[in-house]
Amino acid sequence: MSRLLLKDVLKIYPYTRVSGIFGRKKAREALEREKLNPYTTNEGVVAVQKFNLEVEDGEFIVLLGPSGCGKTTVLRMIAGLEDISSGEIYMDGVLTNDLNPEHRDIAMIFQNYALYSHLTVYDNLAFPLRNLHIPRDEVDRMVLSTADNLNLTHLLGRLPRELSGGERQRVAIGRCIVRNPKIFLMDEPFSNLDAPLRRKLRVVVKNLHKKTGTTFIYVTHDQFEAFSLADRIVVMRDGIIEQTGTPRELYNEPANLYTATLVGSPRMNIFNNAELDYVSNSSNRWTVNVLGNKYPLSESMTRGFSKDLNGAAVTLGIRPVHVQVSSNSDSSAGSGIPAKVLYTEHMGSETHIYMEVNDLEVIAVQPSVNPQYSAFHRGQSVFISFQMQKVHLFDRDTGSRI
Ligand SMILES: Nc1ncnc2c1ncn2[C@@H]1O[C@H](COP(=O)(O)OP(=O)(O)OP(=O)(O)O)[C@@H](O)[C@H]1O
Ligand SMILES: [Mg+2]
Repeated sequence: MSRLLLKDVLKIYPYTRVSGIFGRKKAREALEREKLNPYTTNEGVVAVQKFNLEVEDGEFIVLLGPSGCGKTTVLRMIAGLEDISSGEIYMDGVLTNDLNPEHRDIAMIFQNYALYSHLTVYDNLAFPLRNLHIPRDEVDRMVLSTADNLNLTHLLGRLPRELSGGERQRVAIGRCIVRNPKIFLMDEPFSNLDAPLRRKLRVVVKNLHKKTGTTFIYVTHDQFEAFSLADRIVVMRDGIIEQTGTPRELYNEPANLYTATLVGSPRMNIFNNAELDYVSNSSNRWTVNVLGNKYPLSESMTRGFSKDLNGAAVTLGIRPVHVQVSSNSDSSAGSGIPAKVLYTEHMGSETHIYMEVNDLEVIAVQPSVNPQYSAFHRGQSVFISFQMQKVHLFDRDTGSRI
């Protein structure tokens, strides 16, 4: 069992104190820099706040967010390497705030891993176990099973310098997981490897999770990594959770504009100047006005709408795969909005079409098999239309989903 609960966790890093002869000037400069952080208090920089998360036994959680949003800080607090300023962390119902890292039964792997260069793969894997004074045959069993899980069995006799980058990284993972920790924390473990290797190691991690059933918490700022690994993704910004959900939920029902534009590639098209209208005499009661056109909204989308929303200023989002492009105005999806092709990108199975509408850039993604899409050229006049059941509406002021 390894359930984890974080309750209202807060982390404030105190402002830098510099002493010595130039201390005052340096301290003033550091303070000015640190005050630029989005959240500060009298005591220091707020790195993480209002962090609430419940992780189920055996779940694979990914923390996703840009640099500086507090991902590493959260992992370090779970591991006990960083004190928490307030809030509670429970493991299997037991409060662990004051528990030393070595008593938490948590393993953590960092971006900059290091292997013992004078030890073989076998001894690198056995090292953490020997430190725990585990009997020799038990060590042997655990090392062999870990090596098997990570496909390292044929490399056990080699030294780190005789391994490829990916193999070395697998050994580093093995060294962390070999003692069967309750929770496995990974902080951007593959960020210094090239893309094909990252993809390979993703599969290794996925298989490892399946075989061991351990609870994993994995940090990344790469949405593809997050999508391929996670049971649930925690989207973070400036130390706050913006949304927690399955990859499907984040993609299909982003809770706010932030998640909507963070998740999905190419990025969701955003139109800030949209307006909702209530039409009482037609069967489709709600419409949205955008780019000078009025579009009816589906009944399922507007079921919960209150009349107050009539005339509301909204932001409309539509993913590029839900934008249709045609070279004549009366396309099958209704009347089109005139647009100009800026450029196209052929990505193999799909073509990305970048267009301009009223000085706004609009991206459409279409299957390349249709020769019409590959034939678009720069400056060509086209017409776009939206799959209306796929639009996302957000409050223009708060950015929350309507
Ligand atoms: N020891 C520290 N002292 C003061 N501020 C810190 C310290 N460590 C981190 N911070 C600040 O806390 C915030 C969160 O940092 P953190 O390292 O958790 O971000 P991150 O999401 O892991 O970023 P990255 O993706 O770049 O690794 C940042 O604003 C950072 O400047
Ligand atoms: Mg980090």
